[in-house]
Amino acid sequence: MSAILEGKRILLGVSGSIAAFKAAGLASRLTQEGAQVITILSPAAEKFITPLTFRSLTGQPAYTDADLWGEKGHILHVKLGQESDLMLIAPCSANTLAALAQGSAEHLLTLSALTLRAPLAVAPAMDGGMFEHPATQQNLHILRQRGVFVLGPTQGRLASGLFGSGRMLEPQEIIGHVRYILAQKGPLKGRKVVVTAGGTQEAIDPVRMLTNRSSGKQGYALAQAAVDLGAEVVLISAPTALTPPVGAHLIQVHSAEEMRQAVLQETQNADILLMAAAVADFRPRQVRTQKIKKQEALTLLELEPTPDILSEVAARRAQTHRPLVMVGFAAESQDLIENATHKLQSKGLDMIVANDILARDAGFGVDTNRVTLLYQNGARESLPLMTKAQVAEAILQRILTFLQTP
Ligand code: CTP
Repeated sequence: MSAILEGKRILLGVSGSIAAFKAAGLASRLTQEGAQVITILSPAAEKFITPLTFRSLTGQPAYTDADLWGEKGHILHVKLGQESDLMLIAPCSANTLAALAQGSAEHLLTLSALTLRAPLAVAPAMDGGMFEHPATQQNLHILRQRGVFVLGPTQGRLASGLFGSGRMLEPQEIIGHVRYILAQKGPLKGRKVVVTAGGTQEAIDPVRMLTNRSSGKQGYALAQAAVDLGAEVVLISAPTALTPPVGAHLIQVHSAEEMRQAVLQETQNADILLMAAAVADFRPRQVRTQKIKKQEALTLLELEPTPDILSEVAARRAQTHRPLVMVGFAAESQDLIENATHKLQSKGLDMIVANDILARDAGFGVDTNRVTLLYQNGARESLPLMTKAQVAEAILQRILTFLQTP
């Protein structure tokens, strides 16, 4: 479940392409995220997949042209388009693109696009050459000018065995775009949110480094939650295995120093800083330019402290009043509340999110977290075990109230 998709009515148009099989996965994922997915299949789509597949996956109606000419056709042909929060045509074939560009009302799918009051997004899928053809490109141009969101396609192996442009985006990425589109009028519209994530890497030599167990999951979830609320999001990330949310601007860094520079730069005009990264506190005093050989029998590594990024931003904020809200994270293995309270004060934060890294279901690497929120005014709030996505949403909700209270 995600707050942005929960209860949203998504009209999923499926047109005639072999990628229609992926639309089933897309419908299922959207449903799991809480959306109400109503499907319309074009006649060509029915040759690839049946309405029953979608009805079974979504628990909602799946319509075909037979319904347009059926008993309720006169209601259906305006109702579907008018009652949706978003229409998503995935896959969108070259033929359906052309029909949309022309405003054709021949089939229930394109007809519903004409009665639509909500945003329209299309995820093109077609074989080699068709996408590049000037006719298709012109149709896409017309649709874009009309404000239609065109998602992809990407390059890759096509059904014909050819490689080229025309492959439909993967469901996960399409959902990222859907969230981004739905978030356009969110309460953080016009606000800039800087999020840091992952564990920094401090080089020892060209091969080795010092790093930590941070997976970046909580930071990436925060970036997604901020995108979902309509913010302009800059995600400053140390290396992770994660895909950044659609709509977030990713700045990749390695070391604490690189992260420091990026944070200082990006927070100058930011409203919110969410410092979820696990920044190294120490780095090797010297980075060797050549690989350290075994014969050297190195037993001691000399370290020096890294600058404390939050403290530096807080010192600047005292003059510039930017960012408006600063949130830190305290990953502790003992004396959770005492340590976190100390960090809240010493780093000049509005809020600190404390978690016990020794708990098996919270902290590094896992998808869940159990956190306590500590506020500048001394208030404290313990949240139950939640997914990191839910924790992120809860943190952003608290920040919204900060921004509303002068
Ligand atoms: N942090 C920072 N710059 C650093 C180290 C940490 O801005 N050089 C930030 C982290 O991103 C986090 C908060 O400070 O939001 C607390 O980080 P943590 O590692 O828990 O605290 P430290 O100050 O490093 O203290 P200690 O390691 O002793 O617990």
